[in-house]
Amino acid sequence: MLLSTHFDVVCTEDFLSDEYGPRDDPVGDVNRELSVLRQPVVGFKTFPEHLVYHQLSLVELARRLDVKWVIVLWRQSCLDMYVSLQIALRTKVWYSTEPKSQAEMVEVDGEEFLQYIDKMEERWKHVVKGWPPDIVPIFVKYDDLVQNTTSEMHRILHCMSLDASDCVFEAECCRQNPTPLSQKVSTWNRLSDHERSASLDIPSIVNEAIGRELDVQSEFVHLLPDREPPPPPSGWRYKVCEPYITSTSRENVLDAVDSGSVSSAGRWPNEMSRKLREIFDTAVAQPCSNGFAAIVLALRAACIGPGDDVIVPSFTMIAVPNAVRIVGARPVPVDNATRAYNPSIREIEAAATNKTKAVIVTHTYGVPTADMESIAVLCLQRRWFLVEDVSESACILTTTANGSRRLLGTFGDFACASMYANKLLQAGDGGFVLAKDAAHRYRLGSLVNHGFTRRPSYTWNRHQTLKSAAWLQHWRVVAWTQMILS
Ligand SMILES: Cc1ncc(COP(=O)(O)O)c(C=O)c1O
Repeated sequence: MLLSTHFDVVCTEDFLSDEYGPRDDPVGDVNRELSVLRQPVVGFKTFPEHLVYHQLSLVELARRLDVKWVIVLWRQSCLDMYVSLQIALRTKVWYSTEPKSQAEMVEVDGEEFLQYIDKMEERWKHVVKGWPPDIVPIFVKYDDLVQNTTSEMHRILHCMSLDASDCVFEAECCRQNPTPLSQKVSTWNRLSDHERSASLDIPSIVNEAIGRELDVQSEFVHLLPDREPPPPPSGWRYKVCEPYITSTSRENVLDAVDSGSVSSAGRWPNEMSRKLREIFDTAVAQPCSNGFAAIVLALRAACIGPGDDVIVPSFTMIAVPNAVRIVGARPVPVDNATRAYNPSIREIEAAATNKTKAVIVTHTYGVPTADMESIAVLCLQRRWFLVEDVSESACILTTTANGSRRLLGTFGDFACASMYANKLLQAGDGGFVLAKDAAHRYRLGSLVNHGFTRRPSYTWNRHQTLKSAAWLQHWRVVAWTQMILS
């Protein structure tokens, strides 16, 4: 209904319900019904149970109907959904403005309810199995849509490349029984906390299915861009610095601003570090200002400087050799392997000098450097540091010799990344450096923070003006000393 208020969209009822019994060609029927609609964007609503009823999967629908967008509307509280369903089945009323219908109550058997959730989970998994990976789902939480209708609608329409920035949306939500759950469930006191708060994480189920298809970890699936529409006659202009910002990212930025936790010592950089350590299973993850700084930090932590050679791909971004030069070392460029985007172990070995101290690989355009395990072994044997620059390949997997899949960035002593707006993991700008050896934690932190590593480095009580000024001065001196020593 809300979508249909946009003049380019017409969105209709459930064409695939089980109301009229089984059909010979359910998708063909839907196609015919959609083809009579006149708007540039047409759509229809369906439920997982109806797809199961017609023995359809989403991938079949998407392929035969040339579906461009799938909006996954879901409700956080399973009990709420279950109770609505029970009331509707009993009263045949889904939405009502009648005050008298607000008195409805249902009995919920906790065990039966949990079985229902299991069944629902199975149904979702079945329907989204083999999700067409070129279709990025638009997740909409029912509760968000009701509470923040305009911003949610803007987000949905933006994902569909439709402009609605001037529109204000209002949802008048007349559920059959708008009273709190505890008043709708006669057996409320007999339900356990687990039953009362049961939820199904539908986005995770969908992302897992897409992740399996794409061979990408499910937590990154929502970062993938939408399918590209056909280019206009004049061609596309790609804006390098226009990132895809998810609603979660937006909320987290607002949280940082609202809580005043915006510095490098704030909550979110720490949270980012924790998450990176978890993803890459590494000891140290140090956020920093950009990808260039990340390489400089890795080289400084490895004590590489004047008199040292560092092997770098000749086909990469200029920041890579520049970072080598700024620490005083000499970049030694190596060509790509034939028909490859990166050098192979052969080119790397051929470029080695007796001054080589490190090798940087960059997995250009997200293409893994071949045979990373052998390159890592070579570096270990020659006592070279291996630095993986994953700016263009963060969270991409490569296949190892035994056929298993492994994340790029987990082979080297260090992994660096730019988080500039066009990167795979982007923050507008920014970067991070990972280190396998926990011994690098202090040094990397100290380099990034100019030696301000010890507490209470960032605390200054204003009422102690004189003492604090002296205190601050003291920490500056300590910081400088630490920096000079390091
Ligand atoms: C492989 C590689 N390394 C380093 C950088 C530099 O990153 P930043 O611009 O964040 O300093 C880039 C940026 O394009 C890159 O592609």
